[in-house]
Amino acid sequence: MGVGVAQSDFRRTRRLRRSESVRALVRETTLAPGDFIQPLFITHGAGVRREISSMPGQYQLSVDELPRELHELAELGIRSILLFGIPEEKDREASGAFAENGVIQQAMRAIKREMPEMVVIGDVCACEYTDHGHCGILTGCGEVDNDLSVELMARIALSQADAGADIVAPSDMMDGRVLAIRRALDEAGHLNVPIMSYAVKYASAFYGPFREAAASMPAFGDRRSHQMDPANAREAMTEIAIDLDEGADIVIVKPALAYLDVIRMARDTFDVPLVAYNVSGEYAMVKAAAQLGWIDERRVTMETLTAIKRAGAGRIITYHAREASRWLREGEAEARRAVDVMSEWHA
Ligand code: PBG
Repeated sequence: MGVGVAQSDFRRTRRLRRSESVRALVRETTLAPGDFIQPLFITHGAGVRREISSMPGQYQLSVDELPRELHELAELGIRSILLFGIPEEKDREASGAFAENGVIQQAMRAIKREMPEMVVIGDVCACEYTDHGHCGILTGCGEVDNDLSVELMARIALSQADAGADIVAPSDMMDGRVLAIRRALDEAGHLNVPIMSYAVKYASAFYGPFREAAASMPAFGDRRSHQMDPANAREAMTEIAIDLDEGADIVIVKPALAYLDVIRMARDTFDVPLVAYNVSGEYAMVKAAAQLGWIDERRVTMETLTAIKRAGAGRIITYHAREASRWLREGEAEARRAVDVMSEWHA
């Protein structure tokens, strides 16, 4: 690359790093609260606000707790939420996932009443609703049956759209589910409900804390028969191509931090909205180290989110959404104060 080094001088990169104002002038990647999608865990009952022990600052909330939560998020500038449901009862067929009065369906209706402009994304999966904790319907020998599970996903997605979901986000990783969901939505007249597909979802150990949060630990086995092998990046492009072919509107790469190369590859290969999921384990590690005083939580969080965006993600699903938005606001206030100080000096 020709960087045009002058003969008489040498190039000084530090010139552009002297002050926060100059650094801000040449910054390539910036974050804003509107970049973040906050996941929320909705549980049955009333007056429930239960902190998740492995995810400090994240709560299981009952539907009546939602208005307060929504106003807090909106005040911070966060405009999208991703909903997970924890039903009162689980069964083999995940019937709580598509029940008209299921916990998620109630939550969606309540949110649309309280704050219609908040973008409500429904996670479409069965693992929080099955008594065995797997993402779909099991065959006699305990394997997840692809085609029966696809039918189930279409049914769940449709019930969420009926309840007011703005976007549905299938996270089950069955083959053919995007097409089945698109058909079901279209037939029911939900032509304008987009599909945000977890196109690239790795069989990751970083989901550990989520399984406590959503009570979705598989009773036996794991998810390696349908989630991706962490060793594969090129295969991720095939997954995205298939989902786009089937009608996905937005695609997710998940987890984020250990897969920044995959995010970059996806960004360079496809021209569609790309979302990264900064998952529960990534959040828990930052929180744990911060509690021990081993890292500077604010700086590590902002550096992490910046890296995910720099890698190519347009938006980020993150449990850090609230705090990061607060810190962004504080950062702006600090910058304004610095400018005030400068103008006082020059006055
Ligand atoms: C499945 C689902 C999972 C997550 C989001 N959707 C768990 C899994 O696949 O086991 C994980 C999110 C996180 O770890 O933050 N419904």
